[in-house]
Amino acid sequence: MPIMKPRAMGFNAVSFYIFWGILEGKRGDISFEGFRDLQPFFDAAKQAGVYLIARPGPYINAETTAGGFPGWGTHTPGLWRTSNASYTEAYAGYIKEVGSRIAANQITKGGPVILVQSENEYSGWADGYAEDPVYESQLMQAFRDAGITVPLTTNDAWPGGHYTSVDVYGYDSYPNGFDCSHPYNWSSDAVPEWLWGSHIQFTPNVPNALYEFQGGAFDPWGGSGYSSCSVLTGPEFERVFYKNQFAMSTTYLNLYMIYGGTNWGGIAHPGVYTSYDYGSAIAEDRSLREKFYELKLQANFLAVSTAYLTTRPMNIYNTQGSFTGNSALKTTQVLDVVGNKTGFYVVRQADASNNDTQSYTLNLETSLGALTIPAIGGSLSLNGKDSKIHVVDYTAGTTTLVYSTAEVMTWATIDNRDVIVLYGNAGELHETAIKFDGATPPAVKIASGNGKIKQKALVGGALALQYTTSGQTVVEVGSEVLLYILDRKEAYQFWVLHPPSTGDMTHFNTDNPIIVKGGYLVRTATVNGNVLSLTGDLNSTSNFEIIAPAASSRTVTFNGQPLLTTKTSYGTLSASKKVVLPPVVLPNLSSLPWKAANSLPEISAQYSDALWTVANHTSTVNPIQFTTPVVLYAGDYGFHTGNILWRAHFSATGTETAFKVDIVGGSAFGYSVWLDSTFIGSWVGDPAVSEFEGTFSFPKSLSKGTNHVITILQDHMGYEEDWASASDDFKTPRGIMSYSFIGSPLTVVNTWKVAGNLGGEEFIDRTRGPLNEGGLYGERQGWHLPGFDDARWSSGNPTMGISQAGVSMFRTKFNLNIPQGVDYPISIVVGNSTSTPKHFRAQFYVNGYQFGKYINHIGPQKAFPVPQGILNYHGENTLAISLWTADATGGNLESLALQITSKVETSMPAVVNQPSPGWTPRPGAF
Ligand code: GAL
Repeated sequence: MPIMKPRAMGFNAVSFYIFWGILEGKRGDISFEGFRDLQPFFDAAKQAGVYLIARPGPYINAETTAGGFPGWGTHTPGLWRTSNASYTEAYAGYIKEVGSRIAANQITKGGPVILVQSENEYSGWADGYAEDPVYESQLMQAFRDAGITVPLTTNDAWPGGHYTSVDVYGYDSYPNGFDCSHPYNWSSDAVPEWLWGSHIQFTPNVPNALYEFQGGAFDPWGGSGYSSCSVLTGPEFERVFYKNQFAMSTTYLNLYMIYGGTNWGGIAHPGVYTSYDYGSAIAEDRSLREKFYELKLQANFLAVSTAYLTTRPMNIYNTQGSFTGNSALKTTQVLDVVGNKTGFYVVRQADASNNDTQSYTLNLETSLGALTIPAIGGSLSLNGKDSKIHVVDYTAGTTTLVYSTAEVMTWATIDNRDVIVLYGNAGELHETAIKFDGATPPAVKIASGNGKIKQKALVGGALALQYTTSGQTVVEVGSEVLLYILDRKEAYQFWVLHPPSTGDMTHFNTDNPIIVKGGYLVRTATVNGNVLSLTGDLNSTSNFEIIAPAASSRTVTFNGQPLLTTKTSYGTLSASKKVVLPPVVLPNLSSLPWKAANSLPEISAQYSDALWTVANHTSTVNPIQFTTPVVLYAGDYGFHTGNILWRAHFSATGTETAFKVDIVGGSAFGYSVWLDSTFIGSWVGDPAVSEFEGTFSFPKSLSKGTNHVITILQDHMGYEEDWASASDDFKTPRGIMSYSFIGSPLTVVNTWKVAGNLGGEEFIDRTRGPLNEGGLYGERQGWHLPGFDDARWSSGNPTMGISQAGVSMFRTKFNLNIPQGVDYPISIVVGNSTSTPKHFRAQFYVNGYQFGKYINHIGPQKAFPVPQGILNYHGENTLAISLWTADATGGNLESLALQITSKVETSMPAVVNQPSPGWTPRPGAF
């Protein structure tokens, strides 16, 4: 994941889940091989100066298959998420292993980890069960035994007072919900003012910790797509909802997600698709949304507002009309109850759904006594879906702002001058009052920009300045204050950087700020003597303004190239940098040579399933009891991901007319059925359907006593999560719940067989892990891997597709040669006409890694980002695509292309490719 970007945004920590099921695909065999190695991630965080909050579960939720539990949990007896021994024994090895790796990277050992979360949302229970304090303390003990010494936390699903025995209790909240299809609908009372009350009720003595606050939303199969989710949770949402949390004195705020990434392989639970973009500030392809820039304003404000840390909200539930006299507004008074100086007044619309602009004046107590603001006349305004924090008696270096209605983005004392960066919406009227000593107010001089300033000396020794926030105006107030008055778009361009200090935690430095305006992303500032080196990403010509100590910025470089700087009249540096974004021609996937092979030999008369697993269990520990003669739950035979195949051998009575079968696979799953070599139908899938009973007619009657086989190919959309503790919901089977032969109730299946990924829990691909490949013939054979010899395959490509129901695998190779020094994320993009969609499913394998699962008639995802490192940007790539057509007439991808989704020059260090071991003979493959 991008780890420098949150830091550049002004955040100081990142939390991350660890997925037990992917580390321990086989019970007792815990692997940190390949992508599962946590150490490079810990090292990158330390290098970026980002503290880490580890969240290893064992239950994580997170829209992952089984909520992070391993597949083998589905056939382990006893209730999970309780103190039941079969569960606590199951997680013991994992917690020990993962815990010791986290422990080695704790801050006390010079690492970046500052907190470890125990469980996740241990907040709801199946009927008849309740919070299990024995489980809670056993789990904490397991972390302690593994060497964790930093505080343990937990994330309650709301401030409900569950699992408060951890060191620093906290909760989560998703106040705008997950309906991305109506991104502008906010309910009137969506803003959760009550969270502070609950915090005080349960855990008044720890920080008000919000371990997950809505940073986006997930989107289901057939959903409206992540760009809608990014609107639902866009900059307006961030302003209103995050500032409300600041009104609640939230001193730990973690956003879920800042970066959601990709549910590659079988990571997802059935409720989400491959992309886990989440509509977050950092998009799946690592590009930055406007949300990122809005967050940067808020994060930097908090970083310099230390008085905030000791505040309390003073008038919860009594906010409507207060301080403004306008009942359409709510204002929370947040006072520093330790420093007893500073106040924060958080203003928002009383009705969150209101889009009207409100006018108001503020009536506040200040160190100058009671004031009506604006003091120079006129009124303030608040747009619909907006919120502001007005500061009172706010310290910025040696300067005190008696008040500012324009919001503070940051301030820094540089060369003995307090540089204060203020912003508002374009065209808004604002007022800021600066305290002064002595009898005469300081001189005010517009140093640059077109803004006009009205001024008035206030009784008690402050100079009020009134202005509108439009563009950028720089104002010198005396010789000691430099004000930047900005509109929001200008403010978005400011970055606050801290050159590394000395010592071990050098990159965590928060002293000696340098402010840089300009650039899509400024990552780092380093000072060496009088040379200031900046690094970052640029997407177009950038005009920089650099506010840095003169002595350490005689020479300035950006990404290693000198910047030609000129000094402004007020002592800052300006420079311009052109950006070269070299053109790149991507291979045209439709004109590449492709090879094709049938990946469903199972339906040919010659096929032998002798090596398949016989499904012959006559009992299961699964809480859902089986009604078939033998258990037909794929998980009971060790198959937990991807496509599953079933074979039913029977001897005909001669009166069978159809096969009826009830299969469960999770939301949007599908299945296709063959009688011997003849396709007899499909359930094509629907996002609202997790289990479907279909009846598939036989084309002709069978002769009495003849032997036949039904072959079923089903999709496995991942296991359900296990949100309600003690529910064992994650054990909900994937497989066959019932079957019968219509016209012949007495027909007996004499053997059931099942095939899933080769080896099942003894998965073959140690590098890519247990969830990468499924049970298609081509997957079992490793056709998706680089280096497989497809020379004898015929030509054929996925846009030509196949002309009947079945499965084919397509392979091609291409070279990429993307220049160094740029970040050009690439996606695989498919075409999709929704008029009369064909019913098919495709999986995209890039260098053996499954980075896309596409369901043509369900969608919505059409672009599948494949990160650099999985894609080899400097050499050969193998793309393999499985295509399962559910219609008798077959199907094909409408189009297929590689696409660059954003272009920046970057200082990102060279990306090391993930290990992508090639095909080797697979003993026992069938
Ligand atoms: C939270 C949960 C997360 C994730 C989120 C929704 O309640 O803790 O793991 O599932 O909901 O995206």
